[in-house]
Order: sequence, then structure tokens, then C-alpha cells
Amino acid sequence: MGRLQGKVALVTGAAKGIGAATAKRLAEEGASVVCTDVDADAGQAVADEIANAGGAAAFIAHDVTDEAQWEAAVKLAEDKFGALHIVVNNAGIAPDSTSIEEKTLESWRHVLAIDLDSVFLGCKWGIRTIKKHGGGSIINISSILGLVGQPNASDYNAAKGGVRLLTKSAALECAEAGYDIRVNSVHPGYIDTPLVQDVMAKGEMGGQQVGANEMRELLTMLHPIGRLGIAKEIANAVLFLASDEASFMTGSEMVVDGGYTSR
Ligand SMILES: NC(=O)c1ccc[n+]([C@@H]2O[C@H](COP(=O)([O-])OP(=O)(O)OC[C@H]3O[C@@H](n4cnc5c(N)ncnc54)[C@H](O)[C@@H]3O)[C@@H](O)[C@H]2O)c1
Repeated sequence: MGRLQGKVALVTGAAKGIGAATAKRLAEEGASVVCTDVDADAGQAVADEIANAGGAAAFIAHDVTDEAQWEAAVKLAEDKFGALHIVVNNAGIAPDSTSIEEKTLESWRHVLAIDLDSVFLGCKWGIRTIKKHGGGSIINISSILGLVGQPNASDYNAAKGGVRLLTKSAALECAEAGYDIRVNSVHPGYIDTPLVQDVMAKGEMGGQQVGANEMRELLTMLHPIGRLGIAKEIANAVLFLASDEASFMTGSEMVVDGGYTSR
């Protein structure tokens, strides 16, 4: 028996990186998984990979900032797999590395929409749907940058810090309403995904321009454990929070950062 046997999960941003690793890990443990992403080709490929490995998965194109598309995504879970128990609000983008003085309101709003509004919508549609199916778990992917600040990342800091406390509001609302829905946040350190590879390729660190290799070394040095994380290490944390093993955890923040915030 898998740890999520009989459960139905929806993972946003499932085409790449942490989302793809999470969708595959949840499916390995028996969940039927709705994979969603704006990147339809790569998202469909992840769903196909799960199905080819003997799991159950479906893909739907889904922009997490669009409420009508959230409604369609949770409906797909119910129509195809008969329920929804787990929502992983993972889709997100890294911001441009610009100071508050230089940042435009337009780019600020773009980051806040994808990295924070999306999680509000995911909690809204997650709670509305999961409560009809006996309860479950919502996992919001925040960041170490939802816990500590970084210069030139004000939009990302604000969004990820917002995700941290939005998670606690949602957890309290579910508990007070008597819904059996736990809501927790996960705070990864730097994980070697396409998002971080793009950041390294741009080579902007603290207002300085450095090469990609130097950038990787600098980022590695911030993690006492001596390396960047891999996507599966975050997927395993999500799996735990999604499973009944975390039955007394709600409103909590799980830090998975190789010691980054321990200094
Ligand atoms: N990689 C890290 O070091 C790290 C650290 C802390 C937190 N995070 C967070 O983890 C999450 C996943 O990051 P990742 O590193 O796997 O990123 P990634 O860029 O590798 O993958 C993100 C996925 O989200 C999708 N996406 C982007 N905008 C979308 C939208 N509007 N609607 C739907 N899908 C959209 C992309 O197409 C992509 O498939 C993000 O929320 C990120 O902020 C990542």
C-alpha cells in the first residue's frame, strides 16, 4: 500500500522542477495526480511519464492566476478521479533582480500575482473542493525567502512571506470550520531546478554581475550542508505533509534548506 493510496492530488507548476518531482513522488505513493501548468507540452509529458510508470495522472493547461482555470482544474480532478484530497500550490516564478527604487509597479504586480494571488486561489478552490470529499491537505510552496530577506528580491520576499501567513490563516479557518483539512507551508533553500539554473545563468548577486559557475559556488556556500538541494528532497517533504503521517500538523512551516536559515 502506498502512503497516498486512494487519494487524489492536484499539483500546480508540475511541468518542471519541484512540481514535476512532487507529482511523480505523490503518484509513486498511490495518489492519482492532476498535473497543471502553463507549459502544456512539458506538463503533458510529466503526466504521460507517471501513466507509463503505472500511475494515474491527467494534465490540464492552467494559469494559476486565473480563477476560472482553477475551477476547471479542480473539476477535472472530480470528473476524472472522483475526488480531490491534496492541493500543492507550487507554481511560481523568480523575480528580476532589481532594487525597490528601480522596480516597476507592473513587474511587482506580475510577481505578486503568480507567487501569491495564485496561492490564495489555490487555497480557495482547494478548501471548497476538498471539504466535499472528506478532507485532506493543502501544501503551499513558500521559500527561505518567505522567512528571511534578500536585497533586490522585494517582490519575491513579499509574496513568499505572504504565502507563509496566508497558510496560517487558511489552517485556522479550516480548523475553526471543522473541516478536516490541514494547511502547511514548505520553505526550500536553493534547489537545482530550471528556475535556479536561470538565476545562475543571469549571474546577478547582490547588485553584482558574476559568472554562472561563480554564482553556483556562492549559492552553495550559503547552505551549511555544502550543496544545493534537489527537487526530490522537496517532493519528499510535500509527500510527508500530504500523508496521514502529518496528521497533527497544520499551520506549520517546514524548512528544507540545508541549514541556510540556521546561521
Ligand atoms: N528552486 C528553488 O531554489 C526554490 C526555492 C524556494 C522556493 N521555490 C519555489 O518552488 C516553486 C517551484 O520552483 P521551481 O524551482 O521548481 O521552478 P521551475 O521554474 O523549475 O518550475 C516552475 C513551474 O511553474 C510553472 N509556472 C510558471 N508560471 C505559471 C503560471 N502562471 N501558472 C501555472 N504554472 C506556472 C512553470 O511553467 C514551471 O513549469 C516556486 O513557487 C518557487 O518559488 C523554489
